[in-house]
Amino acid sequence: MSGRKYTVARIPGDCIGPEVIREASAILEASGEKHGFSISWADYPFGADYYTRTGEILPSAAVDEMASMDALFLGAVGDPRVKPGILERGILLHLRFHFDQYVNLRPAKSYPRVPLPVRPKKGEGLDTLVVRENTEDFYMGIGGTTEKGRAAIDMSAVRGLYTMKGKLEGEFSGGVEGAFQLGVASEPGIRRVVAYGCRAAKARGEKTMTLASKSNALPQIYGFWEEVARDEAEQHGIGLTAVNVDAMCYHLVRTPDLYGVIVAPNMFGDIVSDLLAGLSGGLGVSAGADIGDRLSMFEPIHGSAPDIAGTGKANPIAAILTGALLLDHIGEKDAAATVENAVRSYLEEAKQKELPVEFGGEALTGSVGQAVLQKI
Ligand code: NAD
Ligand code: IPM
Ligand code: MN
Repeated sequence: MSGRKYTVARIPGDCIGPEVIREASAILEASGEKHGFSISWADYPFGADYYTRTGEILPSAAVDEMASMDALFLGAVGDPRVKPGILERGILLHLRFHFDQYVNLRPAKSYPRVPLPVRPKKGEGLDTLVVRENTEDFYMGIGGTTEKGRAAIDMSAVRGLYTMKGKLEGEFSGGVEGAFQLGVASEPGIRRVVAYGCRAAKARGEKTMTLASKSNALPQIYGFWEEVARDEAEQHGIGLTAVNVDAMCYHLVRTPDLYGVIVAPNMFGDIVSDLLAGLSGGLGVSAGADIGDRLSMFEPIHGSAPDIAGTGKANPIAAILTGALLLDHIGEKDAAATVENAVRSYLEEAKQKELPVEFGGEALTGSVGQAVLQKI
């Protein structure tokens, strides 16, 4: 059979990354077989082991190679042996920025039999979509520490929409030492992610969405966000309510199903999406995608979870559902639905002890993967 063929770059990464990517990959392959296409994986070893061994973080030749592929599937990076930030910024954020993946899509969806820590108030379950801006805010990487009280910070940055240049200079009195980190928001940067949120809201049949903001304390950056976001939403015929992110967190733990689409600047989106992951059943069931107009990347919300690596407690469902987002993105909608339905029917039909450890069962990573695979 000469079916459709896709090439997908794969970075399993560190700790539980390879454990969950292994299970998810087998399920994507099986769904492909069922729907008449095949996936050829282009594997990259980047992560803590590779870095420790070679000193290399993410060679640009590899990134150039990935550019022509259909998608990128990533487990998670980060390892206690490596100073925080080196792999996270050097691999994960580098890829998001390089490919200008300006939307970090994080559905918080509840699934059958997955225990929820707080009972939903409006319906049976949760179905919120976090649309997180993924290239700006405090993530630009612009900042530094003082030396003898002085700082001269280079503001150079290259983004898909613009380049930024300049220098910030400052000095504390009396040689006081400190650190700076610059938050950045650009009008086109806000508009494109809000526009994406509006299209998502419309596709869900909703007329409004909510912006995670904080203009009371940080009016320069988040006041600007509110102004631009409101204008953009209006042009799409979508109502936008700005909610201070602290209050949003408060409302969420009391009414986890309060929101439909949440649009958020990068850092608030990071925090709110982990909160919603917890509320919708756990990080082990929370899928994610970094979407741009070029190569898009698919990675669960969770990190490398060194605390459970090697124990089999890692729940692969987040990675499997992330794989479904990948299939949907490359145009294989039926195959994506097959994967999501397989997860659903496994969860519906499993005996209590056949559920993942995260949900109070006894099934280890590989058995959960096998059980979902059986349902394809
Ligand atoms: P984490 O998401 O790795 O773990 C938080 C908690 O959730 C841990 O207790 C962990 O055991 C649990 N958990 C996560 N995934 C799970 C799964 N699939 N099944 C069951 N339980 C799961 O966050 P962290 O501990 O802050 O970070 C660990 C490392 O991962 C750090 O180096 C961090 O920088 C990195 N990180 C990477 C990514 C990424 O590559 N996409 C994302 C977040 C964090
Ligand atoms: C995530 C992670 C990353 C982020 C870290 C590891 C840089 O927490 O994907 O949510 O902050 O975006
Ligand atoms: Mn995060």
